[in-house]
Amino acid sequence: MQNLDYDKMASTYARHRTANQLVLSELRRKWKSSPESKILEVGCGTGLYLKALTETIGCKGWGIDPSQGMLRYAVDSEDIHFFEGVAEELPFEASFFDLAFSVNVIHYIKNTQDYFREALRVLKPYGLICTATDSEKIIRNRKPLAQYWPGTVEADLGRYPKIELLRRQMTEAGFVDIEEHETYRIFEVADAAPYRDKAFSCLHLISEEEFLAGLQRLEIDLKTGPVHGMSEFVFLWGHRP
Ligand SMILES: C[S@@+](CC[C@H](N)C(=O)[O-])C[C@H]1O[C@@H](n2cnc3c(N)ncnc32)[C@H](O)[C@@H]1O
Repeated sequence: MQNLDYDKMASTYARHRTANQLVLSELRRKWKSSPESKILEVGCGTGLYLKALTETIGCKGWGIDPSQGMLRYAVDSEDIHFFEGVAEELPFEASFFDLAFSVNVIHYIKNTQDYFREALRVLKPYGLICTATDSEKIIRNRKPLAQYWPGTVEADLGRYPKIELLRRQMTEAGFVDIEEHETYRIFEVADAAPYRDKAFSCLHLISEEEFLAGLQRLEIDLKTGPVHGMSEFVFLWGHRP
């Protein structure tokens, strides 16, 4: 698999990506938060989810990410602290967090089994873990990505771990009550700019020829009528006994 350099992609990511409401709603649905809660975002990137959550809940947040470029956009505050680090070796003491979550990160973690062991260690008893990712079905049905750039489907099927594997590894690590929940939202694609700027990592994994052909088709379709997109996630939950 081609190595994606998030230090280089950071400014594009910061310009085009916002916290997805599906993720924020799902975390609020399943996790009973309080201002005393301590939360960890693994692979926090520019910190947009941690910022949105700590602001609405008033709790304390910690974020880790290996990319200094992404972390440049993640600004510490009284309530949020960002660290350089990887999921497989969390730089935190045991039994510290109420919730550990990751969004669009699990496919970058080289050893997901080590990550789940580490997450179990840093969670308090009954603490929750949530992994927001894409299943095979979601990858195949992505709109507009799979429609305009079908090569992204095979590229991403090759790098996203299967949900069954993640569930098995969570169980082996010691998590219990493992649950999956899927949500989606239809939206109108307003602008080709995030696609033109490759703010979606899978667009870096196809040939330039396919990328330009898909972009041209999208730009033509946007001129003649609405183009609908679909945002979809599978959330994999578990808790420490
Ligand atoms: C698609 S971005 C998602 C960023 C953020 N979660 C968001 O949704 O805005 C993937 C992030 O995973 C980070 N990452 C890559 N390998 C990682 C690892 N082993 N542990 C933790 N994060 C990692 C990258 O640096 C990048 O910031």
